[in-house]
Amino acid sequence: MGKIVITGASGNYGRGLTDRLIAAGRAADLILITRSPAKLAAREAQGCTVRYGDFDLPETLAAAVAGADQMMLISGTRVGARIAQHKAAIDAAAGAGVRHIVYTSFIGIDDPANPAEVRHDHIETERLIKASGCAWTMLRDAHYADAMIVMAGPGMMAGRQWVSNSGDGREAMVWRDDCIDSACAVLTGTGHEGRTYDITGPELQSFTQVAAILSEVTGVAIPHVAVDDAAQYAIFDAMGIPRRPVDDQAIGGIPWNSDDMVTFGQAIREGFLAIQSDDVARLTGHPARSVRQMIENHADSLRAAAQPAGA
Ligand SMILES: NC(=O)c1ccc[n+]([C@@H]2O[C@H](COP(=O)([O-])OP(=O)(O)OC[C@H]3O[C@@H](n4cnc5c(N)ncnc54)[C@H](OP(=O)(O)O)[C@@H]3O)[C@@H](O)[C@H]2O)c1
Repeated sequence: MGKIVITGASGNYGRGLTDRLIAAGRAADLILITRSPAKLAAREAQGCTVRYGDFDLPETLAAAVAGADQMMLISGTRVGARIAQHKAAIDAAAGAGVRHIVYTSFIGIDDPANPAEVRHDHIETERLIKASGCAWTMLRDAHYADAMIVMAGPGMMAGRQWVSNSGDGREAMVWRDDCIDSACAVLTGTGHEGRTYDITGPELQSFTQVAAILSEVTGVAIPHVAVDDAAQYAIFDAMGIPRRPVDDQAIGGIPWNSDDMVTFGQAIREGFLAIQSDDVARLTGHPARSVRQMIENHADSLRAAAQPAGA
């Protein structure tokens, strides 16, 4: 069993994956990349190797990936501007003799008509990986249920409505934990080279349907209010969210940008993300978990967010 280098190891996805691989007995095989090694000092105590590396400083990456057999390339956060970052990591891996790259891609990116901004970063990154000479596995993750229920959910509860430009389009939102379980299965299993998996939740649902579940489970009426793209841009503009990604305007560590989010809603509305597969179950041996289950697990905090201040 060779060494596995993980980029983005300090993030939500990277932490979950590191935990699972340590639980699988692979701590000594893990090389964790971060721009701030002090953040991951506890991982060294667990037996992992922590190395400095920055996607924006390609010269730091060769030493960071040295000695690895596999690279888990967790996509960066600067949506719309990640190709150069990912290319630096892929070039470093190929140069260091990494055998196999596993990448967190995104569903529905084959269709050039898909307007989602994220498509460009992912399709080009996949192309660069395939051209690198390394073996590869693409994990095309659906929209994280965590992003809509755990991150955006409290704001919707407080505002008593779910506003989006996704219309009646449907998608099969997936638990990030199921994405991580799938990655763990690929990294520790065999026969996944040259394969592209669609990592989705168990059912296609519109935001109107999910809002109905949210309302039913929390007991607070949260209607889905469909708006057009111009209105959606206006809402994000009023929140001070830039159209393009700007690192120093990050919210919760993520450089949110409205071009990404509005084109994402458009892609849902136009059906480009209406993809459901059973790859989670096939890879992990357990069924993909539902959006309803996530809402039920967070019902108390969601309900609390709906209370008026001081109540
Ligand atoms: N499918 C979906 O709906 C969905 C939703 C959200 C995110 N995602 C994808 O999943 C990825 C992981 O999400 P997450 O929640 O784990 O993100 P996160 O918690 O914000 O973590 C981001 C990670 O990226 C690393 N990073 C950022 N800029 C870097 C740079 N210049 N060089 C090296 N590393 C850098 C950070 O490492 P350090 O700060 O330690 O250097 C951090 O570990 C996201 O980036 C995104 O591509 C998908």
